Amino acid sequence: MKIYTEVVSLQQEISRLKKSGQSIGFVPTMGALHEGHLSLISQARKSAGITVASIFINPKQFNDPDDLRRYPRTPEKDAGMLEKAGCDMLFMPDEKEMYPPDFNLDYKVGYLDQLMEGKHRKGHFQGVVTVVYRLFRIVQPDMAFFGEKDYQQYVIIRKMTEDLHIPVQIIPCPIIRETDGLAMSSRNQLLSPEHRAHAPLIARTMLGAREKKMTMSLEQVKQWVAQTINQDTYLQLEYFEVVDSGTLLPVNAWDEKNSLIACIAVWAGKIRLIDNLKFSS
Ligand code: PAJ
Repeated sequence: MKIYTEVVSLQQEISRLKKSGQSIGFVPTMGALHEGHLSLISQARKSAGITVASIFINPKQFNDPDDLRRYPRTPEKDAGMLEKAGCDMLFMPDEKEMYPPDFNLDYKVGYLDQLMEGKHRKGHFQGVVTVVYRLFRIVQPDMAFFGEKDYQQYVIIRKMTEDLHIPVQIIPCPIIRETDGLAMSSRNQLLSPEHRAHAPLIARTMLGAREKKMTMSLEQVKQWVAQTINQDTYLQLEYFEVVDSGTLLPVNAWDEKNSLIACIAVWAGKIRLIDNLKFSS
């Protein structure tokens, strides 16, 4: 696996590969890699000729300076994991290489920025689309792979590529979980042992809520979720929403016509965890 820190040398190699007829599969990340990231690499390897990963902790998408400061950084370990997983190229730019001074993307996320993660993390998605747009311009991938763990991010990036006619196929990949059900996340390693022990309640509650859909109204299920999470002294619910999986607009009642997904954000001490579960196909 070759590591690139400069845009120009990466682009030279990518245009050479594209001219020779290779397809490019791209997996953007912020590092502190785990099995969830590696599942995206493995999907890219199955779908594309060349797999490119990037590691860049994008300051523009952190609405909380403390979150940026403590975000785990393990570049050597990450490079080793990517190499072992069969990734062909790794792009690791610094901030100067990634952003020309004063760069701002004209594209606005729109209504999707007012919902769920957008509502609670002001400016987060504007930062995400800015970096992903620039990464797409640099890497010129045929396909890009995103985890459904960050479901709203996937929907927003899919919409951006459609709106801007960026010729890249956006491929969603399923959530990878720990054996106790906790969705894998780079932030899990920041949990105290107590918070880590209690965090699987999030996924269990989501599964419970899907069961209760059979016998309870949506409002009752929402109350049950809030009670179940908040009864645990280590966890605090930020939001639980049931939304249309295409538009992400909230629904007010169970509706078989809509394809529903439930999304949740929970504070475990100072660490914020998110998860989601499809409630109907
Ligand atoms: P990061 O959190 O590092 O995640 C990189 C990719 O891995 C995202 O597509 C994310 O959804 C996916 N991922 C994370 N945990 C996963 C899990 N448990 N199962 C499946 N996929 C998982 O998301 C970002 O970085 C950034 O916002 C980025 C897109 C790189 C832009 O900076």
